[in-house]
Amino acid sequence: MGSVKNKLRQLIPQKILYLYYLRAAKKAVSFDLKRRVHDKVYSDSEAEKVKRDLTLAYHIVEKGLTMPVPRPGFGRPIVVNLVDTVLKYRKLNLPPDEMEYTQSVSVLKEYSDFHEHIKFNLDTEVAGKLALLENEFKSAHGLKQIQISREEYFKHANSPFDLFCRSRYSVRNYTSEEIPLAVLHNCIDLAQKSPSFCNRQPNRVHIVKSPGLKKQILEIQNGNRGFGHMAETLLVISSVISTTKDIHERNENHLNGGIFIMSLLNALHFNHIGACSLNWGVANDKDVILRRILDIPENEVLLMIISCGNVPDHFSIAASPRKSAKEITIEHLK
Ligand SMILES: Cc1cc2nc3c(=O)[nH]c(=O)nc-3n(C[C@H](O)[C@H](O)[C@H](O)COP(=O)(O)O)c2cc1C
Repeated sequence: MGSVKNKLRQLIPQKILYLYYLRAAKKAVSFDLKRRVHDKVYSDSEAEKVKRDLTLAYHIVEKGLTMPVPRPGFGRPIVVNLVDTVLKYRKLNLPPDEMEYTQSVSVLKEYSDFHEHIKFNLDTEVAGKLALLENEFKSAHGLKQIQISREEYFKHANSPFDLFCRSRYSVRNYTSEEIPLAVLHNCIDLAQKSPSFCNRQPNRVHIVKSPGLKKQILEIQNGNRGFGHMAETLLVISSVISTTKDIHERNENHLNGGIFIMSLLNALHFNHIGACSLNWGVANDKDVILRRILDIPENEVLLMIISCGNVPDHFSIAASPRKSAKEITIEHLK
């Protein structure tokens, strides 16, 4: 049956086949695109959006506070915007115990304390906004950023899963010590144990150690300022399109990739390597550039980059608190 299908397929001119697949793809993809566009235009989920904006901003401040060398006065526009979003949240009368809100207030207080500690005078607008917050939001408590030693950070690298799982963080500070290729291969072998659709194993890992190539890649990635240049290795994770059968499997490259990447992050942690995911949510032009830099074929989708390195004796990590299971669970019990 399969060979009859293949023979029939060979009889159809390539151009017709291309247009046929393109039509099927447009139909399938527009369903998803419309839902996304609808959300941007018509969805009035103000609460979700204000919490999203709080998280995006407080996390940038968390990252700034935990950089290898935090820059005095860093993130001014973000801080101003975060205070305004906190005020907007309160004006909307949203619950005062939501994690996004309490963490935002806590991170802003930490930003204030940090500058007081290093005796850096913030400009009047920022200082005024932060003072307003100090006075009005005394009851909100969040998690402080963590300062840790290498020994402490990897203390649970061989512990039972619950302790291991809770001990991994994104690390944004590395030494120049080399990570042997054998160690990276070991991590990738462990990640290969991740489940994949019908065991098709679509993931690929591009190991980048060349200083020139790393520099070019990091220049076009938008989330590594202040630490990316310290990474001894970059892992560029991609996924082979030809492992998917038809357009309805179009999300499988990303889905399988996500499962694989989490295993890989755990494997790096297990091997005492610090690592940070770097997003690849970019416009097409950047995607084309990265493909050119590493000579990646059209047949691979680029998913994400991981910066890796050995960690220094002491470093800081962003707290990045999590919502509880109850907060993210919808139960359908009958
Ligand atoms: C898909 C994805 C993209 C990310 N992109 C970045 C990035 O560009 N820069 C960065 O510093 N962290 C990035 N992160 C790391 C997240 O900020 C981090 O995982 C999150 O705050 C949770 O903290 P944790 O990893 O320490 O548990 C990314 C994480 C994921 C999963």
